Amino acid sequence: MAGETRRIAAYDDALHAENPEDLRTGECGYKYRLLDGLVVPPYVTPGRYAHARAFEMRPDDVCYVSYPKSGSTWLAHIIFLILHDGESPAEGTLRSQLHWLESSWTYPRSPDELEQLPSPRIFKSHMPYRMALGGGPDRSRGRFIYIARNPKDVAVSYYHFERAKAWSGHYDGSWAHWLEMLTNGRVQRGDWFDHVLGWWNSRQLGNLLFLKYEDLLRDFPAQLRRLVGFLGVDPDERTLDKIEQLTRFDAMKTDRFANMHEIEDFEGFFREGRVGSWRDQFTAQQDAWFSQVIAERLAGSRLDFDYE
Ligand code: A3P
Repeated sequence: MAGETRRIAAYDDALHAENPEDLRTGECGYKYRLLDGLVVPPYVTPGRYAHARAFEMRPDDVCYVSYPKSGSTWLAHIIFLILHDGESPAEGTLRSQLHWLESSWTYPRSPDELEQLPSPRIFKSHMPYRMALGGGPDRSRGRFIYIARNPKDVAVSYYHFERAKAWSGHYDGSWAHWLEMLTNGRVQRGDWFDHVLGWWNSRQLGNLLFLKYEDLLRDFPAQLRRLVGFLGVDPDERTLDKIEQLTRFDAMKTDRFANMHEIEDFEGFFREGRVGSWRDQFTAQQDAWFSQVIAERLAGSRLDFDYE
């Protein structure tokens, strides 16, 4: 499969921050911006955010949303293949088919470009419910798919991905420091619990589908059926099977359409792709403490996760 070869240069304040003077540096060099009270990456700029909030989605547009490191790229690939009969285009890459309005880096599109694009358009977002694209599922005509992942694996995946990245100020804190920052909502995209619960609590809306990473791994065909039903398409068995094969971790990792190879500084993106890699990172004490935090913060929500 041909892949777009144009490199997407690494994040750079001078090119992507819009107003670098507003950026802040926290402990261990951690760089961020405060936007409407939320800790966000420097490339989520006030201008891009305002554009994203005011954006009018078409009824058949799809926006997939997650807290970082929850399997959103995997979900993007699945959605793309469902909407394109299981076929990847001969030219371009998955990134070039997605639109990330809140970001000034990697997926910038002008309002005119967006307007010219045929339906259904696929949007990406990492915003909490209160800051969602186009006003969110209860105000927008578009369709939203949220993917959540257990917070232990998210914390570990995020730590490995975020360290030493330009957009995080080349953060060099320890794992213990990261876990403390994440638990207190001081990492980019803020508090994991607020993020996930904000979307979970609106899951009854007809234009919002709530998925879990662990369910996709455990029973892909059942989750794929939920997705195709939600998206209103009816692929045949052969196409469904093809989508499953193409989006497996090992297949995606080497697929130049979907593996994001063109983005500089994305090495190691396909790290483990499984449930339970947190066991290699958490000490027994950290696990006991974080499990308690999870129990308290999710109490009464009826939201739970598989950890193994
Ligand atoms: P790990 O770091 O635990 O391996 P996001 O796309 O939201 O940034 O999420 C990234 C996480 O999803 C990484 O987790 C990555 O390996 C995992 N991932 C990516 N593609 C996957 C796939 N096809 N199947 C399972 N996990 C996948």
